[in-house]
Amino acid sequence: MARARVLSGVQPTGSLHLGNWLGAIRNWVDLQESHDTFFCVVDLHAITVPHDPARLAEDTLSTAALYLACGIDPARSTVFVQSHVPAHSELAWLLNCVTPLNWLERMIQFKEKAIKQGDNVSLGLLDYPVLMAADILLYDADLVPVGEDQKQHLELARDIAQQRINARFAPKDADGEPIPILRVPEPLILRQGARVMSLTDGSSKMSKSDPNEGSRINLLDPPELISKKIKRAKTDPVMGLEFGNPERPEADNLLGLYALLAGRTPEQAASDCAQMGWGQFKPLLAEVAVEALRPVQQRYADLRADPHGLHQVLEQGRHRASEVAAATLERVRGALGFLKAG
Ligand code: TYM
Repeated sequence: MARARVLSGVQPTGSLHLGNWLGAIRNWVDLQESHDTFFCVVDLHAITVPHDPARLAEDTLSTAALYLACGIDPARSTVFVQSHVPAHSELAWLLNCVTPLNWLERMIQFKEKAIKQGDNVSLGLLDYPVLMAADILLYDADLVPVGEDQKQHLELARDIAQQRINARFAPKDADGEPIPILRVPEPLILRQGARVMSLTDGSSKMSKSDPNEGSRINLLDPPELISKKIKRAKTDPVMGLEFGNPERPEADNLLGLYALLAGRTPEQAASDCAQMGWGQFKPLLAEVAVEALRPVQQRYADLRADPHGLHQVLEQGRHRASEVAAATLERVRGALGFLKAG
């Protein structure tokens, strides 16, 4: 039987941080064992907010290198760049024409980002979730491993596939049963790591767009910087680390990070640190963070030393991704009634 399909992606905007790793990429690695996995660097998404053209190609390449450094194996997974497969833009257009505008206006991330952009909100920012739906639906993905913040976008992709394409355009088989055109994907959001919070405010998400560098740990931060950021992380006056106390979001977040980075269960982590003051806990957290990132940083340096190898991986990925994407696009074009070329 064919393996279930997985697709996910990260935007190449600035450095990847612990939230991207623990909420998403780390979970992709295990899925390679059991699933047919596609991982894409979503560069078309990166231009939905003002971007620096001088950095886009480099950030795209470094994001791909980080996928591999985190354990994505190009022999088992298809690793590619979104803009190298034009079917993403084309399916996005077809989906645009059946997606109600008010579904997009409801998107929380659009509202949050639009507020930050002021007068400069692009149509692309509003349309972003439709492009994301195209990314997923093109590959007939069964599962999409993401952090909690992407859940609403996943629901939108499901609604577009089910209500706007399959329900309206599916052809019928001999018994009159509809033959679905697009597979309806499920999100995969693991509880641990799904929402890594800022180091400077335990009630807001760790994010690439936070202007305060101290709010996040980037995967390529050198050890001294990691220690410095953790040392300056927000704390509270209470002794002992604990989970689930709504008065102590920072304790909950940092203890969660410790558990994930040290490979401890939440119960073990809570018992390890129940009696620790912040002065004892922070150096311990810094140490486990540095140790967890050390192999990723080493592999990243090796991969960047061989740009030819990296380009080859992306070229191989482009071929495989294009094949799968072309077949889906053809199905959708056919169902929507387009004249075949030739
Ligand atoms: P992006 O680039 O913002 O984030 C990439 C992945 O990291 C997760 N993530 C987090 N997880 C836990 N805690 C955090 N603080 C945190 N911050 C980010 C995100 O949930 C995501 O899984 N729209 C997507 C990119 C995308 C995509 C796709 C994803 C485009 N097409 C198709 C899956 C499938 C985004 O902006 O992710």
